[in-house]
Amino acid sequence: MTHDSAICGELVRLYFPSPLSSFMPKKTVSADVRKKLERAAVKVMKNAYAPYSKFHVGAAILLTNGEIFSGCNVENASYGMTNCAERTAIFSAVAQLGPKIEIQAVAVANDHGVACSPCGACRQVIYEFGPDATIFFQGATGPKQAHITELLPEGFRLQ
Ligand code: THU
Repeated sequence: MTHDSAICGELVRLYFPSPLSSFMPKKTVSADVRKKLERAAVKVMKNAYAPYSKFHVGAAILLTNGEIFSGCNVENASYGMTNCAERTAIFSAVAQLGPKIEIQAVAVANDHGVACSPCGACRQVIYEFGPDATIFFQGATGPKQAHITELLPEGFRLQ
């Protein structure tokens, strides 16, 4: 996705809010790639450092170049310093590939089998690198998928 097409998509969503915007073409993820992404999220979950919440989370991100990066939650005795799985995956991708990464999709898994979508902070970080990203997560009644702008309306951008 180019920068221009991302801006264009955001403008259309701004002026034609849902339900029209929900018919806009979005980068789709095949069932196979979605499975691969979800498996990567489940696999990395075992590395979580979660002695306080005992809630192990794994996340995997698919970049527009086809690469997948994964991450787990890393907690801290000073609870606020905890890093969620989603941000671990994104920061790891930036550390490996540099600042120009573009996120196409994110999958989130947890070891409690409960509803778990990215927290507010992670939504903003996903939006930074993936304004057209699709998020796969466990909803209240089963697996769900949502566009990042559904989870984070009015996401903040500086440029
Ligand atoms: N957590 C994540 O890593 N990702 C989410 O999407 C939700 C919450 C982590 C943060 C903390 O370590 C634990 O789950 C309980 O909130």
